[in-house]
Amino acid sequence: MVSGAKPVIGHLAEFFAAPERLIRRGHAEHGGLFSLDLPGRRAVVLLGQERNRFFYGETDKRLSIRVAYPFFDRMFAPEFYVFADPEEYRRQRGIVLSRFQGAQLDGYVAAIECETAKFIAQLGDQGEFNLVDELGPLVLRIAARCFLGPDFASRMDRDFFAEFRRFSGGMGFFLPDWLPLPRLIRSRRSRDRLRRAIGDMLRDRRRNPVRPADFLQTLAEARYENGARVPDLVLVNLVLLLTWAGHETTTGHIAWAVADLLGSPDDLRRAREDTKHLDRCLHETERLHPVAYIQARQAVEDFEMDGFTVPNGTLVFSAPCVSHRLPEEHERPDDYWPDRFEAGRRERAKLIGFGGGLHRCTGVHFAHLEMRIVISRLLSHFDLELLDGTPRPVRGMKTKWPASPCRVGYRSRKALSTVEPASILLRQLA
Ligand code: HEM
Repeated sequence: MVSGAKPVIGHLAEFFAAPERLIRRGHAEHGGLFSLDLPGRRAVVLLGQERNRFFYGETDKRLSIRVAYPFFDRMFAPEFYVFADPEEYRRQRGIVLSRFQGAQLDGYVAAIECETAKFIAQLGDQGEFNLVDELGPLVLRIAARCFLGPDFASRMDRDFFAEFRRFSGGMGFFLPDWLPLPRLIRSRRSRDRLRRAIGDMLRDRRRNPVRPADFLQTLAEARYENGARVPDLVLVNLVLLLTWAGHETTTGHIAWAVADLLGSPDDLRRAREDTKHLDRCLHETERLHPVAYIQARQAVEDFEMDGFTVPNGTLVFSAPCVSHRLPEEHERPDDYWPDRFEAGRRERAKLIGFGGGLHRCTGVHFAHLEMRIVISRLLSHFDLELLDGTPRPVRGMKTKWPASPCRVGYRSRKALSTVEPASILLRQLA
């Protein structure tokens, strides 16, 4: 048990206010396996490569993802995706997985390029912006264009972003559904409005099909392997899930990636010239600033680890925010050093910022493609600098974005290079 538990509430307050600090202390006191005192719940934290392998490998066996994320149920539906029984989960995952693999990803490049070019054109020649305030809506516009089609994306405005942020407010580990919290009520209302809008779009696509079929058209016509039609509620929730899971996380990762690069001029120069180095930088940002910094499961039977018995019903956490910086597994753990990934897969295999095993992020390749395009276009069009010093993560139990203000100043590089102006790129892509 980690030190510092208070009477009655145990570690609850610290777990909410500074979870990373608590887990670091646990590691310093006990190594890679220790318990937290959360009222009414047994909880353990697993750290390090070996134990992470157990965490992801045993999911859907001795560990359940279904019961560990209670908010998923209220934001989507019971019997949806990870909440469904394993057979139904695989059927639903099968509907979307192929759209995120191999050559299918090429189909999103034009949409990502186009939204990025619009964003750059609208920035003008020089100015400043707060990273998450501008990149958040861009990421959401990209998701909307890729998953809901260009018409929808062109109608989308900041209200849609605000609607999605309200919907995201339904997230939260220890918030029971019956609690009449304003943020839970707002989240449910936003969910219902988004569901109606997406349902209308699916029905419209059935009446007026788009050819060649894009993501939304494929969903509108989706059938299970046995030929049965997929219920509309499942399809609507799939669109909601992908857009939600994709925007919150990618916004944070891309903002950190830009901030990290601006703090390291040599890596910035190399990333401008070589997308392979940009990829290494994206991995290094995943290591240092994993936005999904804690992931949860629940033990569904007793298991043994390091001579201890972890009983059935225990909450089990993996914590990339601490695992990724263990000095025994990572050289220069707190330094931004993208070249550590030059060696290839061995270093990358230690990362769990996108999860692992069967439930590894469905959109990982999409997210990398998107981040690579957006960042390389920004770097080739602008000279950028951080205006508020080295950013710090937001406090508490939120998706770990850089805390605002985290502004960048930018100035066009047109005069310096042969970079294609965004307006020309836009015309070509239109
Ligand atoms: C930088 C961006 C992203 C990060 C860091 C991220 C992170 C993660 C993590 C850690 C998980 C696993 C959670 C767990 O095992 O408990 C996950 C799952 C998932 N992600 Fe992502 N994600 C990102 C982008 C995306 C995008 C762009 C999409 C969709 C287009 C997406 C869709 C999903 C889905 C559907 C799951 C559930 C997978 C399953 O359980 O089968 N994510 N993501």
